[in-house]
Amino acid sequence: MTTEAKAYEDPGTPEEISRRAFFARATIFTGTVVGLGLAIPLVASLVPKRELIEANKGFSNLDKNEFAQLERSLDKPVKIFFRKLVTDGYAQEDTEYYVWGLKFNGQDEQKFRAERPELFDTAKRGAIDYPVGNLGFVMFSPLCPHLNCKYDWDDGLKGFLCPCHGSQFNRYGKHIKDQAGHFIGPSPRGLDPLPFQEHSGNAQVEWIKFAANTPNIVRVSYW
Ligand code: FES
Repeated sequence: MTTEAKAYEDPGTPEEISRRAFFARATIFTGTVVGLGLAIPLVASLVPKRELIEANKGFSNLDKNEFAQLERSLDKPVKIFFRKLVTDGYAQEDTEYYVWGLKFNGQDEQKFRAERPELFDTAKRGAIDYPVGNLGFVMFSPLCPHLNCKYDWDDGLKGFLCPCHGSQFNRYGKHIKDQAGHFIGPSPRGLDPLPFQEHSGNAQVEWIKFAANTPNIVRVSYW
């Protein structure tokens, strides 16, 4: 055996062993403290703070011209934009959103209730604790309940179609099935209606983001 190999196998004096053990423990302790110091604020930053939630709540005015177009629309939904000041706690940003508005004509209101009974059932409506299909309109969030892609109206289907994974919804936002009785696309629920009201002559909606890919309707944020 060489002198080098012998030196490598030498465990050292008791003092050297105890010094090495001390440095090893000190390194683990410092690493743990630094790791927690980074992880705790990171995890905390992912949980929306109550003040942030409150600051972003509230109704916004819908674009007047687009809402007027919806009032004249007899057969299909209309995309209506609005702007909202969104704060992250430090800065405010003027942000553009839109909804899909449907004006009820003829038997639409009864059909909406019949097609979307879950929205009127207190045991199933989840976060929908506000009137929907009120004042003769319903406003749908434009985010697909599957993974939040933005779906579109399809004149050929006479329904909504999500380009990402093909979920289809009828004009009342119901997730529709094919002839074999299978849901078309992976959406776990129908489209989410947003709070809608009239205030001082303005048509308004409240933007709410709901959880993606859950059968239940769960609020996530107001931005
Ligand atoms: S995001 Fe719409 S079907 Fe997947």
